[in-house]
Amino acid sequence: MSITQNNKQNSSDKTVIGYYQSKPVQFSAKHNIDDFHKQLNKVKADLIVTPELLTSGYLFENKQQLLDNALPEDSAIFDDIRIMAKQSNCSLIVGLPIKKQDKIYNSVVAVTPDGKQTIYNKVHLFDNEKKIFTPGDYFTTFNLPNGTTVGLLVCFDWIFPESFRILALMKADIICLSANLVLPYCQRAMITRSIENSTYIIAANRVGTETIPEQNLSLTFTGGSQITDPRGNILINSDQIETGIKTVQIDPKTAHNKMITQNNHVLLDRRDEIYKNYL
Ligand code: ACM
Repeated sequence: MSITQNNKQNSSDKTVIGYYQSKPVQFSAKHNIDDFHKQLNKVKADLIVTPELLTSGYLFENKQQLLDNALPEDSAIFDDIRIMAKQSNCSLIVGLPIKKQDKIYNSVVAVTPDGKQTIYNKVHLFDNEKKIFTPGDYFTTFNLPNGTTVGLLVCFDWIFPESFRILALMKADIICLSANLVLPYCQRAMITRSIENSTYIIAANRVGTETIPEQNLSLTFTGGSQITDPRGNILINSDQIETGIKTVQIDPKTAHNKMITQNNHVLLDRRDEIYKNYL
């Protein structure tokens, strides 16, 4: 039987990828982006991912407070991100709330050095997010200048294996999860998600605690950002309190090899004709 491999010719064998583990100041978009800019100036990379909602922080007292901090697509913050991507010659994936007419999405914007922009809106909303955000309705990828395909996800998307599988079927070599994790499971789950899809995964998380005293609500974010390779090895990670950018050099073409044994391909061996009887 012949197996169709994913043979993309252009992907460079030297690609530096990383994450920014941050501690954003609530409702201070400019400050948080400037902080990211300072950290970005210290590294040389091809792709850097920030945590979810980098510009605003995570907790909102109500929908009005979210609306006040959500960004329209013509916000100057998008210009800042485009300039940063161009000056650093690095593709950036930044988490931020986006408002469009009467809807607010928990989004990431991916910007390549040539200014091309791709937006993904979180499909699976977590807990109280359901009261204030609108869920997204599509998955998407974009390409680095060297041809590497990158898939976009936001935080609670992690618990649904379908999110990663769909992006692997869309030929993502690297799947980027921009997160504000509060549960302790995701980092371990990403090892399995990497293996079962044979992809790199960048999980960019934040640290710190946010509270809403009037609602007796306090969330502590678990840090532990990490990058896993297509065999589930953790290439780099961070602890639960440190902040800053960490990078690692990879060969994205490693993700083109989907063979687990000589006779098993993680995507082509799927049995959709059987699964569909149960879905
Ligand atoms: C989450 O989706 N921010 C847990």
